[in-house]
Amino acid sequence: MKGTLEQISIQGITGPQQRPRQRPGVRPGVRPGIRPGNRVDINSIGNIAISGISKIDVTPKAPSRKVIETALKTATVQVRKDDRTEQSLRKFDTPDIQTEGFGPHLLTSLEAIEISENAQVMIETAKNAVEKLKIDKSQRRKVLEQIPDSVLNKIKKQTRCPFGAVQCDPTNKYRTADGSCNNVANPLWGKSHTPFERFIPSFYEDGLDDPRATDVFGDPLPLARDISVKVHTVSDSTTQMNDLSHFSMEFGQFVSHDIQMNALSKGQYLSNLNCCASPQRRNCFPIPLPTNDPFYSTFNRTCMNFVRALATTNLECELGPRQQLNMNTHYLDGSAVYGSDKATADSLREFNGGRLKTSTNNQLLPKDIPNKSSCKLPAGNPNIKCFLAGDPRVNQQPALIALQTIWMLEHNRIAKTLEQLNGDWVDEKVYQETRKIVSAMIQHVTYNEYLPHILGNQQMIDLDLKPKASGYFTGYDPTTKPQIRNGFSAAAFRFGHSMVRQRLAYNGPLHSNQSPLLHNEFLKPDKIYDANGGISSVTRGLYEEFSQKVDRKMTKELTERLFESIHGFGGDLAAVNVQRGRDHGIASYNIWRMVCELTPADDFTAGITGGLEHHSTVEALALANTYSSPWDIDLFTGGVSETPIPGGKVGPTFACMIGLQFRALKFGDRFFYESNTDVKFTPTQLTEIKKTTMAKIICENTNINRIPKDVFRKTTTSNINPEISCSSLPEVILQKWKNCVDGGWSSFVKKNRCVKMRVCNKPKPNSCGKKCVGSPVQFTCLNNIKTRKNRKLPNISGLPNIRRKNRRG
Ligand code: HEM
Repeated sequence: MKGTLEQISIQGITGPQQRPRQRPGVRPGVRPGIRPGNRVDINSIGNIAISGISKIDVTPKAPSRKVIETALKTATVQVRKDDRTEQSLRKFDTPDIQTEGFGPHLLTSLEAIEISENAQVMIETAKNAVEKLKIDKSQRRKVLEQIPDSVLNKIKKQTRCPFGAVQCDPTNKYRTADGSCNNVANPLWGKSHTPFERFIPSFYEDGLDDPRATDVFGDPLPLARDISVKVHTVSDSTTQMNDLSHFSMEFGQFVSHDIQMNALSKGQYLSNLNCCASPQRRNCFPIPLPTNDPFYSTFNRTCMNFVRALATTNLECELGPRQQLNMNTHYLDGSAVYGSDKATADSLREFNGGRLKTSTNNQLLPKDIPNKSSCKLPAGNPNIKCFLAGDPRVNQQPALIALQTIWMLEHNRIAKTLEQLNGDWVDEKVYQETRKIVSAMIQHVTYNEYLPHILGNQQMIDLDLKPKASGYFTGYDPTTKPQIRNGFSAAAFRFGHSMVRQRLAYNGPLHSNQSPLLHNEFLKPDKIYDANGGISSVTRGLYEEFSQKVDRKMTKELTERLFESIHGFGGDLAAVNVQRGRDHGIASYNIWRMVCELTPADDFTAGITGGLEHHSTVEALALANTYSSPWDIDLFTGGVSETPIPGGKVGPTFACMIGLQFRALKFGDRFFYESNTDVKFTPTQLTEIKKTTMAKIICENTNINRIPKDVFRKTTTSNINPEISCSSLPEVILQKWKNCVDGGWSSFVKKNRCVKMRVCNKPKPNSCGKKCVGSPVQFTCLNNIKTRKNRKLPNISGLPNIRRKNRRG
């Protein structure tokens, strides 16, 4: 084996050839996942340290100020030269429409592009510096970490770090639109347009930037498309789940779009890079298609376009490995509904009654009139348009549009009630209070209904993810980084791709079902307007069908026909997932097993410790037929093909990674709905939020009136989870948001020589607020009054009476 140790050595984890079959401290058969109190410190999950498996290495000295300054100069020239090359290659690019190949995932913002321009210089500087000093690739990251702050600060100033200070209003009771200021000490944590965090350091071929390319024997890694064909094809009726509904798949996608949107590279003037036409250019990483490809070779295709994610530095703007940008807020905060910046949020608001904009009798999402977004419109029907929502990928397919619409309608339903309850609330107050409730509902459904199905009860308990039956969660930890982790985004949470069915069901009101193939539905909003489609039919179609199992197999709709316009020219999402993992510098499957305290595989034997312990024989065989060594298995491929953990749907490695991410999103979010922080709900409001079920939300906003209580599970033939009447589901009582006004006294006014009066009107208490405590009357010459024998004390409940008595006295 050559060059292997360097490739696999990350943060003190030794490579395979030095690896004993049993790693110190790693117990075979240990229950999967990381639990509090284990050797991996989950409270510092941004910086997981593996104890007991460290390698003693001597790190060379950091580059001097002079070396770095020269590296910076060279990098600046280099990046300008690359810009000019890009300009000349523009002719190969396609225009900025997202209906081909990548679909709406290529909607990169100008802000992201600006951030990346700066980062390109930083990354090139880092590369130049370590190359100049001939530092071994395994040491590069560590060497750069040792650059003194004084040198680094100067470079940061020169290159203008884009992640600068933000102004926060410490009295703000609501989340900001872009997620900033949630963490008071670190206001940029979780903000949109900031880098993904990492559980463990990156794993690039050259230590800093180039995608992983060679296997542990120094040979090229298997091609992403080969892996897709050999491992990820093909899901069918035999790999259907027998409990979870297709709605579980869709909700997962909705959650994903709330917490992340990767920024992908663009060409000059926002054109789409055509990487097959010029593979060597900056940010190109096309996927070669083998000449014997079972599908694409029929169409003489030899290349699939793939553009790298935009490069960024880390949040601290240090010189170091390439990172990637999350354009959405990292928090689970409803940003798929509201947007991840103020301009988007404002563009979706009506600015009247706290409502969001709608179209088509207030029943559908607003239309994107100039059609800037990405969808395919039918010819000859000018009324059909793409939709607008907080997340720009909304038009990707109708099931997503339906769920996005339901949450928008839920906002407007709640806003209407809050406005009626609180006549004095202005638009802004209604909007913010409603947004706070809807975000809380999304979090509650995620942690209370969705995650337990995916992770199983035990993992929910171990990582303290379960909502409490009543009362506050007291574990908010301002030192927990809430950001989305790169390995979660680029691999683990993509497990949902294997749950996607071949067909999308539209179960109309009379169950007049249609089930077109998914590729026919990509980017088409038509069915949402269609009488036999519509939000209700799409939603019913989701919970009335089983989803596919989480396993290595994916539907051909995704592996051959993703966003295809012409038959044979679509994409392959499994191959893209593998390629994306390499693009992001994600360590291989075995390394993640170790991070999760699971034994890595030294051979392909299924089901035994030291082999592919959590794979069945057929899955292990598929991997053995594809990879030369288990140490090369890509994280998405190895993780998604594991046997699910008891009670859950994903295997132990993904259960660990997904669990830790949702723990970070809970513990690190000051606005987490259950948290007992300064921005908490009142106890009675929290009790109401906890009554939320996804079924009831669907009932409230569609014309469905009977539904299974748990829409994440399909009703079975033996009538488990049967349909019940919507009215029997618990309702969130919004009266608890009636502005509770406690009474306040006016100042005393002298009524006569001996009596002063005050009135309870500043403010006047309403039906839920407390009445003023104390007496409305004050006697200033009480002694006088008392000396008169048999003198009755005045009636203190009303002024006229007192006047009379005083007159007499
Ligand atoms: C019909 C259903 C779906 C389609 C067509 C779809 C398509 C895509 C595409 C094209 C990408 C971009 C890939 C890349 O360039 O790297 C992507 C990314 C992703 N998908 Fe899906 N997806 C679907 C469902 C899901 C589900 C159910 C989940 C999770 C439960 C999920 C999770 C993710 C994640 C985490 C990413 C990475 C996020 C990002 O790039 O910003 N997807 N998906």
